[in-house]
Amino acid sequence: MANRIPEEKVDQVRSAVNIADFIGQYVQLKKAGKNLFGLCPFHEERTPSFSVNEQKQIFHCFSCGRGGNVFSFIMDLENLSFPEAVVKVAEFGHVDLPTNYTAQAQPSTPKDQQQADLLKLYADSAKMYQHILVNTELGEPALAYLRERGLDDDTIATFGIGYAPKNQLLLDFFKEHGTDYQLLRQSGLFIENQAGELRDRFVDRVLFPIKDASGRVIAFSGRILTKSPDEPKYLNSPETKLFNKRNVLFNFDLARGAIRQRKAVVLFEGFMDVIAAYRAGLPNGVASMGTSLTNEQIYMLERVTDQLYICYDSDLPGQKATDRALKLLGDNSRLKLGVIQMPDGMDPDEYLRHAGQEKFVQVFEDGKQTPTAFEMTYLRHDLNLQNTQDQLTYLSAVLNQLVKLSSSVEQDLYLNQLVQEFGLDKDDLKQQLRSMIGQRSVHHTATRQAPPPAPAPLTPPPATVTGETGNRGPLSRVEKAERLLLFRLLHDHDVWLRVMAIAGFHFVHDPYQQILVYAEAYFKTHNQFDLANFTDFMADTSLQPVLTSLEFMDVASQSSKEEVADLVNVIMNQQPLVEQINGKKAELTAAKQIGNHDLVQQLTLALIELYRKQQQVQQADNL
Ligand code: GTP
Ligand code: MN
Repeated sequence: MANRIPEEKVDQVRSAVNIADFIGQYVQLKKAGKNLFGLCPFHEERTPSFSVNEQKQIFHCFSCGRGGNVFSFIMDLENLSFPEAVVKVAEFGHVDLPTNYTAQAQPSTPKDQQQADLLKLYADSAKMYQHILVNTELGEPALAYLRERGLDDDTIATFGIGYAPKNQLLLDFFKEHGTDYQLLRQSGLFIENQAGELRDRFVDRVLFPIKDASGRVIAFSGRILTKSPDEPKYLNSPETKLFNKRNVLFNFDLARGAIRQRKAVVLFEGFMDVIAAYRAGLPNGVASMGTSLTNEQIYMLERVTDQLYICYDSDLPGQKATDRALKLLGDNSRLKLGVIQMPDGMDPDEYLRHAGQEKFVQVFEDGKQTPTAFEMTYLRHDLNLQNTQDQLTYLSAVLNQLVKLSSSVEQDLYLNQLVQEFGLDKDDLKQQLRSMIGQRSVHHTATRQAPPPAPAPLTPPPATVTGETGNRGPLSRVEKAERLLLFRLLHDHDVWLRVMAIAGFHFVHDPYQQILVYAEAYFKTHNQFDLANFTDFMADTSLQPVLTSLEFMDVASQSSKEEVADLVNVIMNQQPLVEQINGKKAELTAAKQIGNHDLVQQLTLALIELYRKQQQVQQADNL
């Protein structure tokens, strides 16, 4: 670490960025009291327990216990080192860092190294493919094709579109640069034959880089340029250490900000549709990787918005896909849903080119349908409503939809439509609907799909040091005292001076004691306690959540001498018991080693007695 980023620089970056804005890129935050709340990005949850305190510039999850400042957040979320985190936050805050700091943001472990190598390979490939498209003769047919489809230079640059020519260049390019053969094999950019020889995977294809949520290229999807019946229209990179298509949404990195601003996301079928919408000034579009949405993707979207519009092709296959997506999303998410359909069976990209930007945007403004309205049209697709049998089929299918609506006003609206269209008696329909609702509530709980299993937390740092994370029981009296006292020690220097003058004072639980030790060092070089600055000062990231959790305690703003004296008493009285136990344990080990059975028995009994006492104290504490 020759070039440690100086503390002033780190402070400058931290104060240039509001943590709520930064985290807001990843989590939809809503004000509740003095804090902001959202769904924790570190684990799966349905009710928000993730909290951001703007005043203190820290975050804390009441469920998994993670917490810290803006740097800890992105370190945890994207597995970054501290310098990498500073660089990333600096970019967000438009703070210039000298390049010697940006360059040192290097990964540290071999696994990180391998991932970094793959990322570099993909970044280089993307550059290379784009260069071929934009600057070379080889790229001319592809460039002409994209222009023909209405993409200008800006759009090509924004999406990083490239071209893999007929004559394969990528392998030679990397061989010339001496790139490691194993890395090339693992990258998925090449196909390996029986003899172990590699050749380019993408040939004569327009390449759309697939990026992760932070905008790093992790795969490509290639659209065939010269039509061929034996070749798929789109070819994706295979899954690699970087790329798991379940977790990826095309354009999520660029769209995220716009999704939050516009409070809605538009889900398209094709990459070209996403790009069309972007060109028309609608940057909040994403697409899955040519498959139906996964729970992981739904989850990504749920944390940035409440509203999703499905805008698939308006031909029959597109409508079928819309119907499936509505059912999937209805069962597996809390997103409010809507449907947008282009006229005349077109896909969005076709319609933009056919009708122009103004009309295209108009469809997004005026053409929003509720899921029910969509279904009422869709359900007709293979029915002939002149035929009585089909009419009955249709009516029962529509009523089945209406049963699911929670709003009776909405139900009424659609019932009226049925009354009008089919000349039915409204009371009869209502009667029918009521009986269906009755049946539904009986079966409802049993048939509803279970929520997806929560992924295992990466490294669960406990917010409190005893008890389980996630589902903590009440804290012991001693730990409560430790937490409050530590808070006072940090924030009130009079308390600090008084307590540090007590001979032999130390906390019972290690993390609090460790923070105290860090604080001692901190106060030697800093006059004032600054929470965010101290968070960085404690290099031990496992302590950061513990520190942060103190700030989310509900404590009186003022301390008193009595309070501090009480806290110290509670903590110091706990020590002898712990120390006695530790002492007896050491003796017991020794007794066992020398084979003194009488002593072993005697010490064991003594230990049992001590544990019993400790339990009593703890039970009394918890009352
Ligand atoms: P264009 O013909 O370029 O306009 O394509 P499109 O955007 O209209 O895409 P289309 O509706 O044909 O397909 C929608 C999406 O499905 C694409 O963006 C791809 O992700 C995926 N897809 C389409 N064809 C294939 C294929 O042959 N293989 C794979 N793996 N995915 C495909
Ligand atoms: Mn298309």
